[in-house]
Amino acid sequence: MNIILLGPPGAGKGTQAQRLVERHGMRQLSTGDMLRAAVKAGTPVGLRAKAVMERGELVSDEIVSALIGEELDSMGADTGAIFDGYPRTEAQAASLDGILSARGRTLDHVIELDVNEDALVERITGRFTCANCGKGYHDKFEQPRIPGTCDKCGSTEFKRRPDDNEETVRTRMAEYRAKTAPILPIYEARGIVSRVNGMAELDHVTAAIEKVLEG
Ligand code: AP5
Repeated sequence: MNIILLGPPGAGKGTQAQRLVERHGMRQLSTGDMLRAAVKAGTPVGLRAKAVMERGELVSDEIVSALIGEELDSMGADTGAIFDGYPRTEAQAASLDGILSARGRTLDHVIELDVNEDALVERITGRFTCANCGKGYHDKFEQPRIPGTCDKCGSTEFKRRPDDNEETVRTRMAEYRAKTAPILPIYEARGIVSRVNGMAELDHVTAAIEKVLEG
């Protein structure tokens, strides 16, 4: 199964993608994570992307589509893909069609996380991740069971993203409204869009996504 999780910054795409990976052994393909890894490693892609990401703007379509193609090629043909943060423009949506069909894959579901933008700034500015395994947490909504220790790997090192400040978040939201929201009608015309209430409690959002996948 190949699915897209769609929604503005902080909608819960990454959180829900991690849960699907744990439950179904699917692979999360997050262009944000891939770009952050490239920035950290200082690759040519990372050097080009760093300032763009810090401003909250979108990295070029060519770069992110190439990253997605490479990631799919590293996966077994039977492993399902969860696209998290990709596609984000009409050009990327067109690229994804070509990337999938060249690999004999089809898109099964586009799940839109429906959220109230006003709540997202609090979600984003409160989040942090394990520096070792990447598991996500939140100051208010999802703390480690033992304070200061990662539930998944036991690490005591955590980090916050440099673009998770209010000013950059506002730019990221504006980019979403202007460039990403317009891709929804492409998938609506194919009858594969499901809307899930992303303002519900985390477990309820997960249950609603599972229902879509079962259906
Ligand atoms: P990216 O990393 O994709 O960031 P984003 O889309 O802004 O999404 P986020 O990761 O901020 O949010 P999320 O929906 O995953 O929320 P999360 O689950 O963490 O992109 C970063 C940058 O990279 C972009 O700005 C751009 O520059 C570049 N980029 C990436 N992809 C690109 C592309 N395709 N094209 C061009 N440029 C690209 O949840 C947030 C917090 O809320 C968490 O702490 C979580 O615990 C909490 N939470 C989640 N759900 C709930 C809930 N239901 N109730 C309570 N709390 C919740």
